[in-house]
Amino acid sequence: MNRIFSGIQPTGNLHLGNYLGAIRNWVAMQRDYDCIFCIVDLHALTQPQVPAELLASTREVTAAYIAAGIDPERCIIFNQSAVPGHAELSWILGCHAPLGWLNRMTQFKEKAGKQRDNAVLGLFAYPVLMAADILLYKATHVPVGEDQKQHLELARDIAGAFNRHYGHDYFPLPEPQILGVAARVMSLRDGTRKMSKSDPSEQSRINLTDDADAIATKIRRAKTDPHPLPDTPEGLAGRPEAENLIGIYAALAGMNEADACRRFQGALFSDFKGALVDLAVAVLGPIGAEMRRLTSELGYIDAILRRGAERAGAIAGVHLDEVRGIVGLLRP
Ligand code: TYM
Repeated sequence: MNRIFSGIQPTGNLHLGNYLGAIRNWVAMQRDYDCIFCIVDLHALTQPQVPAELLASTREVTAAYIAAGIDPERCIIFNQSAVPGHAELSWILGCHAPLGWLNRMTQFKEKAGKQRDNAVLGLFAYPVLMAADILLYKATHVPVGEDQKQHLELARDIAGAFNRHYGHDYFPLPEPQILGVAARVMSLRDGTRKMSKSDPSEQSRINLTDDADAIATKIRRAKTDPHPLPDTPEGLAGRPEAENLIGIYAALAGMNEADACRRFQGALFSDFKGALVDLAVAVLGPIGAEMRRLTSELGYIDAILRRGAERAGAIAGVHLDEVRGIVGLLRP
């Protein structure tokens, strides 16, 4: 059976981009794939974290997975650091990843900014750890938002380099699954920037834990343009805010952009936003409520993570042992 691996960093609030670009697609795929969903806490350490907040966020992301509909019996849910093999494979793969490949990673350039010499090694090596996450389970498909595409191409390149070096077709080349009309959800304040946890403006994103009032306020304040909505997606060209809001509506309603345009052709933003608020509250409200309920049941969350780590660890252990054998590490 094909295997899916994907993950989210436990760094602050999960937002609509994480839901539409990733989690919601995972929910739909869990029936057809053998699924492993990770909370990538080692990746979170590449940026400064407050330890207590990192712990809380790890549990909150777990709660979000379950609240959104991921079945912890069917799928493996665990936190990355609980399976030490991620770090070990990351080292081995790092020895097959030329600096030139890593130097091309745009996310590192954005995050490191002008202070490149002050950026930490972990931030630079981050995509190698991501490749290890996927390859440790020999995952075949990786459902992510559009912003992870370059990292996945690198993971494929590293897998290929390893296979070629050892003359052994060991790792499958993982296929990115960048799905749906909302693979790149943009900021509500600026339709040219990605919706992101690190945006200083709370108004730029809808968090999965926002209540109905917060969702309504953020959508009503979302930036727009002065024109009515067009009748086809072509009419959204050069109108990034309109395109983003129509894309969000379409994704939440499970329709395509053309259908959403047809429904709102000629409408003013004030009317369209009212419909978007109702839809967003109807879809996200129950998820937020279930997340709040689950995060108050720490015993339940921790038991899921513990069981998930055992199941993930069993698969990882077998593969890591094979990799050690392939590269010539002595297993006494
Ligand atoms: P992270 O934690 O930044 O984001 C988690 C997932 O949410 C998607 N996403 C978005 N999708 C659409 N629109 C947006 N505005 C938006 N913002 C975020 C991301 O594409 C991602 O799918 N490096 C990864 C985590 C990771 C991983 C992995 C993923 C580590 N190891 C192995 C897949 C496989 C990251 O930082 O995602």
